[in-house]
Amino acid sequence: MTIELNSPLDMHLHLRDKEMLSVVAPLTSHSFAGALIMPNLIPPVDTKEALLAYRDRILDATQGDIFKPYMTLFFRDSYDYDFLKNFGNELTAIKLYPAGITTNSESGVSGFDIKKLAPTLEAMSELGLPLCIHGETNGFVMDREAEFVPIYTKLATAFPKLKIMMEHITTKESVDALDKHENLYATITLHHLLITLDDVAGGMLRPHLFCKPIAKRPIDREALLNVALNAHPKVMFGSDSAPHPKHAKESCGCAAGVFTAPLALAKLTEIFMERSSVANLQKFVSDNAREIYGITPPVKKVVLEDTPMNVPLNYGEVVPMYAGESISWSIKTIEK
Ligand code: DOR
Ligand code: ZN
Repeated sequence: MTIELNSPLDMHLHLRDKEMLSVVAPLTSHSFAGALIMPNLIPPVDTKEALLAYRDRILDATQGDIFKPYMTLFFRDSYDYDFLKNFGNELTAIKLYPAGITTNSESGVSGFDIKKLAPTLEAMSELGLPLCIHGETNGFVMDREAEFVPIYTKLATAFPKLKIMMEHITTKESVDALDKHENLYATITLHHLLITLDDVAGGMLRPHLFCKPIAKRPIDREALLNVALNAHPKVMFGSDSAPHPKHAKESCGCAAGVFTAPLALAKLTEIFMERSSVANLQKFVSDNAREIYGITPPVKKVVLEDTPMNVPLNYGEVVPMYAGESISWSIKTIEK
């Protein structure tokens, strides 16, 4: 049996830089037609020169694959209308991190004073530039995302023309917020459809499943599965595939991030097949994102078949999710 996907998109991806970029970029560009690229480099991508140079390094690393990097800028409350307008089509969205909440986010937003953020958010609304948010407070780790929902509500109400993407949602509370505000959307990762906190820390600690936001309860995973499998029109796939070298994961002070890029499409197909929802996969991995972002990705036809994929133990220094295990679907052909 085969399944065909047209121009799959990953709307939340970390590609890093230098050697890591050269290892991981082809693992996405091989099978995806495009991806929304996160700006949390050191230093963060916050100027036009940095953004264009990073885009070019990504294109170099993708070795001629048909692949569109949709670029994002690291949110600063100093950005104004003219500064943002000057990016033209090169800028797809702006990513806002609360300060210190995750990898390389130290210079993010502290305090969430909406008045302070307003000029930049108004400029974004006028330009039709979406705002992607890592929505966590610095409260108790299991409650951080739910505690952020009132901030999403405030932002969505204060800036009704601004498209707000709740990134990598992990809770029922975030899922419920989707239908309460017209301008709220969400990305969902592969790993949050699969694991709960039990998988991370319920037995032996599994560092390769440790990420931000941390995986939550079974009831939360069910809520995520429900909207993903039904391809709710306001949710889209964003892997948050976040590579770290093995030594940074298997160490005292484990870096946050799950690396799923090379197996994402195979595993998503397996999940959607097992739950008799494969007719909705095209929407979840491409059509919803095209509609929400108003983008037209390059044409790329990916055919998957029910032949197992054996996941390698590592890609360079990076250990993927399901390392050494097998997934019941694999990519058969890719046509450009
Ligand atoms: O687990 C995560 N890793 N969550 C994030 O928000 C950032 C990411 C990274 O850049 O490593
Ligand atoms: Zn991320």
